[in-house]
Amino acid sequence: MIYLDNNATTPLDPAVSEKMSLFLKEHFGNPSSLYPIGRDAKEIINQAREVIAKTLGATRTEIIFTGSGTEADNFAIRGVLDAFPEKKEFITSAIEHPAVIQTANYLEKKGIKVTYVPVDRYGTIDLDYLKDAITPQTALISIMLANNEVGTIQPIETVSKIAKERGILFHTDAVQGFGKMDVNVNKLGVDMLSISAHKIYGPKGIGALYIRKGTNICPLIYGGHQEREKRAGTENTIGIVGFGEAARAIQEKGNKDKKRIEGLAEQLKNGIEEKIPKVKFNGQKSKRIKGTLNFAFLGLEAEAVLLSLATKGIFVSTGSACSEDSEDVSHVLNAIGLKPEVARSCIRMSLGRFSTDEDIKVVLQELPEIVEKLREISTFDIDED
Ligand SMILES: Cc1ncc(COP(=O)(O)O)c(C=O)c1O
Repeated sequence: MIYLDNNATTPLDPAVSEKMSLFLKEHFGNPSSLYPIGRDAKEIINQAREVIAKTLGATRTEIIFTGSGTEADNFAIRGVLDAFPEKKEFITSAIEHPAVIQTANYLEKKGIKVTYVPVDRYGTIDLDYLKDAITPQTALISIMLANNEVGTIQPIETVSKIAKERGILFHTDAVQGFGKMDVNVNKLGVDMLSISAHKIYGPKGIGALYIRKGTNICPLIYGGHQEREKRAGTENTIGIVGFGEAARAIQEKGNKDKKRIEGLAEQLKNGIEEKIPKVKFNGQKSKRIKGTLNFAFLGLEAEAVLLSLATKGIFVSTGSACSEDSEDVSHVLNAIGLKPEVARSCIRMSLGRFSTDEDIKVVLQELPEIVEKLREISTFDIDED
């Protein structure tokens, strides 16, 4: 198997799974219980919290565990809008993950005015448009750090400054950025930041929201006193243990991993551009998570390319995993100005910690042949314009 869909999810790191199975065998206490096995579980959760906080440049009490990156996004957005009921406006971008876009759609139905800041053809937000959209009614700005489909990195520090000058809270969805680039909440200047374990070689079903000390936010889920009364529900202890271990690995091998993945992605990108005619690279050339490559194979249906690659054991994606089964073209590719027929020819390849030189060699052997064969039978127009 050649797995090039690490933005959809990553395989569990063996060190993470080892730590999780040790924990499963030895600890089952409820972290809220006051006797030793409960206290042990709480202590283990707090150790993981500490590691994650340190990786982000935050303090332990600023990390709230959630059931996913999606929940962290929902919590940040709905929690702040609930905390400021007199403010009726929310600003986000046109290329957010559905976790944010669908939350924004929900808010619109509840009478909140939402501005979706447009992006240029590389996927970078229009800062002037964002500035003009701010009013005294704006409760929150939420702009993602790195895009899941094309990898574009947004000017988060600049948005933070703008938000601070206007006294508005600012959240960033860092689910794709975390683990692939330096993510420090103080350098970024954000008030809230979402992350998810399964994108960093940790388990699925566990995420976290960083909330800067003093930020006014209501819970999304009510119940017991867990997570400093900000997220009720017995903690997913085993998930948290895995998340902590995955974050520790980022601290230990983050930069080395990043350089290697970027080198492999560069080889793959150059190889595709050299060997395959009529391809169009989507996204920023430089301000991008470089292990993410998105190409239009003009004149083809991406799904045909995906399925042909899958028969060779090579797994890629046609868009974000969440919209994979949708008939619509990706809202991200639409927002960067691709015509629907071009958007429908796009394949995303996302490399990760376990990608190898051999993987890239095999893809560069198989892909040109697949594209050539499919083009021979394609009835679509091959030109972009
Ligand atoms: C940018 C971004 N935000 C949020 C999410 C949702 O995270 P989770 O799968 O943990 O709910 C994803 C997952 O693909 C993502 O890429």
